Amino acid sequence: MIFDEEINQIIRGLKPSGIRKFFDIAATRKNVVSLGVGEPDFITPWHIREAAIYAIEKGRTFYTGNKGLSALRQGICAYYKRRFNVQYDPEENCIVTVGGSEAIDIVMRTILKPGDEVILPTPAYVAYRAIIEMAEGKVVEVEMKEEEKFRLTPEALKKVITNKTKAVILNFPGNPTGGVMSREDYARIVPILKEHGIFAVTDEIYAELTYEGKHCSIAEFSEIKDQTIVINGFSKAYSMTGYRVGYILAHKDLIEMMLKIHQYTIMCATTSSQFAAIEAINNGDHDIAVMAESFRQRRNYIVKELNRIGLKTHMPAGAFYVFPSIKVTGLSSEKFCEQLLDQQNLALVPGNAFGDAGEGYVRISYAYSLDEIKTAISRLERFLKENMK
Ligand SMILES: Cc1ncc(COP(=O)(O)O)c(C=O)c1O
Repeated sequence: MIFDEEINQIIRGLKPSGIRKFFDIAATRKNVVSLGVGEPDFITPWHIREAAIYAIEKGRTFYTGNKGLSALRQGICAYYKRRFNVQYDPEENCIVTVGGSEAIDIVMRTILKPGDEVILPTPAYVAYRAIIEMAEGKVVEVEMKEEEKFRLTPEALKKVITNKTKAVILNFPGNPTGGVMSREDYARIVPILKEHGIFAVTDEIYAELTYEGKHCSIAEFSEIKDQTIVINGFSKAYSMTGYRVGYILAHKDLIEMMLKIHQYTIMCATTSSQFAAIEAINNGDHDIAVMAESFRQRRNYIVKELNRIGLKTHMPAGAFYVFPSIKVTGLSSEKFCEQLLDQQNLALVPGNAFGDAGEGYVRISYAYSLDEIKTAISRLERFLKENMK
């Protein structure tokens, strides 16, 4: 069979993730230190694990309703009210998904018609582009600059709006830069989104990892609430990546449409994981605070050290990534990472994996122990000394 001809051209055209490619090479080598993966290093707090175990023990092992357990949706809506002062109804406005990943997918498949444009502020999380393309949308990148602290400015946004613009993706705190939009920053783009009727797809998966002040959700702006779609999940804040639980909060008519895709392709998120998520969202505020404080300390350390060894690094206001500039080395970000892995057994992610705007940078995750971070810094320092003589 000639697969080339038989297979969907969109799928054939997708580029494999620039992150995976690198880590496949790293996995074949010994003594590699990797600061590449965006996954908290904490074991899920015990009371949350226990809730999953208890659900299994009690035989709660059946499908749940398609939208997810009612108690979980109630917990999620209560959490958005408690933490961000945004009101959603658990019956009408919420679907529990298989991670933020499924949420991004069903949002895009629901709102996009072929050829619709989605504005993607970059550097951006790698899955957005692929998911938009699989939904037959067109990605329009808009660069977020380091000088602007990797935020989306109204000027940049206005320049890329066309009559085909359907949505803009807002991921703050952001992967890979740690950029954060304040209430004032959002206030400057909200009127533009309102005027043009553009969906604000806000991926708030790092909301709890905000180090300067408190996270602001664009859903707080009531004038665009109907066109705002919130994506969030349990992976990052509660260290629950393997449970695969996320959620969407949106207008009831959108939820109804998204539920059709979810019910036919997924049925429901894993039942024991949903029970764990109920425990997390109702009784996990303290755990979040403890983990976030640990990330803040690692952030302060790594930013100081990177600047000391000569890599200019902006202090990110959120998430658990730093995005140092490697421009002083004169290497492309891919070459930098290749040579670093080759010479020092240190794996980082090249900035261009996150869009063209990431060229000249690398992404370092600090969701690793301080010991690993220290080893990585000393290898990086040696690399710079040897290559910049
Ligand atoms: C910005 C962003 N959104 C969504 C996800 C997906 O997370 P999950 O599917 O584990 O909820 C990630 C994971 O790295 C991410 O960085």
